[in-house]
Amino acid sequence: MSQTSSQARDGFTSTFGVLAATLGSAVGLGNIWKFPYLTGENGGASFLLVYVIATLLVGLPVMIAEITLGRKAKSDAVSGLMKLAPKGQPWWLIAVMGVLAAFLIMSFYSEVAAWVFAYIFKALDGSILSTDPNVTGAAFGALISNPLQSLLWQWLVLALMGGILLLGVSRGIEAITKKLMPLLFILLLVIGIRSLTLPGASEGLAFLFSPDFSKITGGVLLTAMGLAFFKLSIGMGCMMTYGSYFRADQNIPATALRVMCADLFVSMLAGIAIFPAVFAFGFEPSAGPSLLFITIPAVFASIPFGHFFMVLFFVLSAIAATGAMLSLLEVPVSVVSERFGLSRVKATVTILVVLGLVGSTCGLSNSSLAEFKIAGKTFFDLFDYLSSNIMLPLGGICLSLFVGWVWGREKLEEALTNGGTLPLAIVGPLFFLLRYVSPLLILIVMLKGLGLF
Ligand code: PHE
Repeated sequence: MSQTSSQARDGFTSTFGVLAATLGSAVGLGNIWKFPYLTGENGGASFLLVYVIATLLVGLPVMIAEITLGRKAKSDAVSGLMKLAPKGQPWWLIAVMGVLAAFLIMSFYSEVAAWVFAYIFKALDGSILSTDPNVTGAAFGALISNPLQSLLWQWLVLALMGGILLLGVSRGIEAITKKLMPLLFILLLVIGIRSLTLPGASEGLAFLFSPDFSKITGGVLLTAMGLAFFKLSIGMGCMMTYGSYFRADQNIPATALRVMCADLFVSMLAGIAIFPAVFAFGFEPSAGPSLLFITIPAVFASIPFGHFFMVLFFVLSAIAATGAMLSLLEVPVSVVSERFGLSRVKATVTILVVLGLVGSTCGLSNSSLAEFKIAGKTFFDLFDYLSSNIMLPLGGICLSLFVGWVWGREKLEEALTNGGTLPLAIVGPLFFLLRYVSPLLILIVMLKGLGLF
């Protein structure tokens, strides 16, 4: 049983630490890898527009709600929902689904992170520094189609995460994210400027910013909304878990708003770094998951000191991926250690070993298991689809319904304002969004995206 109430919990130690760690969870491969490739695959500007609307209307309110629930409950996500819900109501199942989602996401995320880590070394030896799509494409193909390399890098990444997690919440997560995020912003800005000044860059800008509404289908809507959930790390108890480490005097809406804006900004920068170059060098915007890895080396190949900057880029991307992975792991680690009384060390090791096994299916999805498909998808694609497009939005519906209809306005207000000590005017609109708008909107988009409506 849970021992949380009697046990002193580790927490974030400063306001900036809270912001940095939350941002560290949100900003990651989702911005640098997933956002560009999905935007490229789903028609560019129109997809971007839907994604931004979903982030504002659904993402932000759900994020605020999740952090608030977490801070109120001060425990892992499963125990937290048990504490907050009326006796006998199974709202904690949301967090159980969240733990499952964390496993699915980590399974493929650790593989993409593996590519990023491997690219640090490829960048070092300079072999991928080329503007020729064939050269950069072949280098990426060689990496992902090699089963041994894919697995070893993935396990290395998992082992590294284990090491960092064992240092503990505040020291481990805070210290790393705090120092290096600003550097990533700056580097993306530099790449963006270069990309924009390439001959032929304007086509990429048009792709990114001038929408063609005919490209919006049910599937596009769902993918864009799924991305909004994935990006903000919501719908699966991750923000709830981080919320449990928030300090009582932290202004949650202000923090969430800042994280959302910074996260959107990083994604936009990544888009501006990638799409002009895609068109300038004749890459395919719809290249899929390989887009980042084949395009970015071409931009660096056309920058003075590109070799050095490319190494730096993959190092910073690896760090961004690390912040996100630590937050993903924190969901099952905190559940297992707090609910089942396992030590953090044991919980972390057990979870990483399971992940090493389950994740291998994604690690091998481009080599040994490439032909093994379920519903037409490799494990990698299936885990990605199930988590982003089904589980996180479903979690979002349930969390909104919980706050909007069960927990209620008074408790939300009390928790948000920390018992009235923080003046907040936004409770009314926030509650309205959570009670009516988010659940309905998510439901409609899910049904449309799945072709059921
Ligand atoms: N938001 C992270 C990213 O964009 C991924 C993530 C999803 C992290 C869900 C935690 C929970 O890279």
